[in-house]
Amino acid sequence: MNKIVIAIDGYSACGKSTTAKALAKTLSYAYLDSGAMYRAVTLYFCRNHIKLTNPKAIQKALENINIHFGVNSKTNLSETYLNGLNVEKEIRKMYISEKVSEISALVDVRRELVAQQRKLGKKKAVVMDGRDIGTVVFPDAELKIFMRADMRVRVARRQKELLDREQLVETETIRNNLEKRDRIDSTREESPLRQAEDAIVLDTTYLTFEEQLDKLIDLSIQKIWL
Ligand code: DC
Repeated sequence: MNKIVIAIDGYSACGKSTTAKALAKTLSYAYLDSGAMYRAVTLYFCRNHIKLTNPKAIQKALENINIHFGVNSKTNLSETYLNGLNVEKEIRKMYISEKVSEISALVDVRRELVAQQRKLGKKKAVVMDGRDIGTVVFPDAELKIFMRADMRVRVARRQKELLDREQLVETETIRNNLEKRDRIDSTREESPLRQAEDAIVLDTTYLTFEEQLDKLIDLSIQKIWL
């Protein structure tokens, strides 16, 4: 049985992280949410008023940032820690979603986080989701998935996710945020969001969560038993 790297890339709110988490659990693989790392850096930058035009301040901030993941013993889910503090709830708030694409476009931020992600995935047996996992972080990943879904479905999914976290956000605000992030994420110079040539496209518009997961399990098993 092979230990493989599974890279799941795609636009925001297409179901990447929920499916990636469940896939990792099914395969007894580690799950790594690379978006959470960019969100944690964004939180640090917001809290410390780091000026994005000051490369020295950015460098110093990156030296002071320590991100790790811990498993919540009640929910059994992985949660994000920034310098020892659990920030899982905070990094999902709208003000972070508003800023994160701008900060994740910074070359220094990407270099640092890509290096950390490569370390975390070195032992394989990992499912990692993000925007550049199959193209930049793990271009040799054995299985690459590129997820997409229609905008109206993405907006509805994100709105429900926020409501589950007790945040009521208008449809229009969510749509604007997703469109803006799609634009910044796919046009930035450093490792933009794009489909790897050898990625399998999974359109989740008309799929239920169970159908999405089943497809990914089938594809993974084919690679693991190869
Ligand atoms: O997956 P997410 O929506 O939590 O990601 C938040 C932002 O982080 C996303 O808009 C772009 C950035 N990101 C990135 O640039 N590269 C990654 N590998 C993951 C996320």
